[in-house]
Amino acid sequence: MNLNSTDYQRFSYQIIKWYKANPRELPWRNTKDPYKIWLSEIILQQTRVAQGLPYYYAFTEAYPTVMDLALAPEEEVLRLWQGLGYYSRARNLHFCAKMIWFDLGGKFPSTYTELLILKGVGSYTAAAISSFAFDEVKAVVDGNVFRVLARFFGIDTDIASGKGKKEFEALANQLIPKEEPATFNQAMMDFGARLCIPKNPSCTECPLQNSCFAFNKGLVKELPVKVNKTKVRERDIHYFVIKCGKQWVWNKRTAGDIWEGLHDFPQELTELAKKSDAIKDPIVTFPKKYRHILSHQKLNVQFSELQIPEKNHQYLAEWCENEGYLLVEEEKIDQLAKPKLIVNFLNDAQI
Ligand code: ADE
Repeated sequence: MNLNSTDYQRFSYQIIKWYKANPRELPWRNTKDPYKIWLSEIILQQTRVAQGLPYYYAFTEAYPTVMDLALAPEEEVLRLWQGLGYYSRARNLHFCAKMIWFDLGGKFPSTYTELLILKGVGSYTAAAISSFAFDEVKAVVDGNVFRVLARFFGIDTDIASGKGKKEFEALANQLIPKEEPATFNQAMMDFGARLCIPKNPSCTECPLQNSCFAFNKGLVKELPVKVNKTKVRERDIHYFVIKCGKQWVWNKRTAGDIWEGLHDFPQELTELAKKSDAIKDPIVTFPKKYRHILSHQKLNVQFSELQIPEKNHQYLAEWCENEGYLLVEEEKIDQLAKPKLIVNFLNDAQI
């Protein structure tokens, strides 16, 4: 398509007009507080608006300012994040709050470039925060924006490539109006999330239909183009849920694998199993099986439950000490930060 600046202005005008006619009341849209906007964006990196809302309310209530988040114990922050998955985001939130509070004198970074120093803030989030909180003229570019632009302007560059990212970013930054950067960015997000959606987009209701390249050429299904390179790995996990009286054995996961810092169960019995006297009931005959999908791994998980007789408590405690496991009272289990899979297992087991 050969386009001039008037075409660009028309596109931006139409998008903003649609957005203003179809408003969505979202709490982070009624504030200019960069801290709250940042919180919302990190939550929305992880989930959709409807699922993200309760987390946004929980976080802003527990930590109304960046100081409150900075001073919170990490365990508590992770617990509040529970269910969203991808806990490194919560750890980064906490890390950044501490950095802002202790190293930057409590002043939230206020430009696109400064925001990029925050762990977990990439170009999309920096553009969102700087435009929403500080009216900086920086276009957000994410999956929604790729899709809208690829379809409307007929761009078939691979959106997963560096070249594609640059091309779409340059175009979005040409389109964003200087007078209303925040509104334009919100409008693009909403347009891509609500109308120009991946499957079965609402072309009949679309105010841009007449000028949309993909619609006019029947290429809506083909655009955007994404060449998938990520390999998903299958992985088997066998958990042992070991109980002794009112105590359970828990494992706190370490760095270098999924779920860093979260709690799950031992995957090996080692010395414990060798001393068969320590284990009263045999491993349950029909272990519970789960299939759990992460972004790069498909997990086939089995949970086997073991009862340790209370007379062997001392032996179990020593084993935990040697292996680095935790013995946790049943009523304290709720306080542990856990991956979603483990929460599902506990819910199903009605614990
Ligand atoms: N997705 C990411 N950021 C968002 C925002 N600010 N509003 C709605 N959806 C979003």
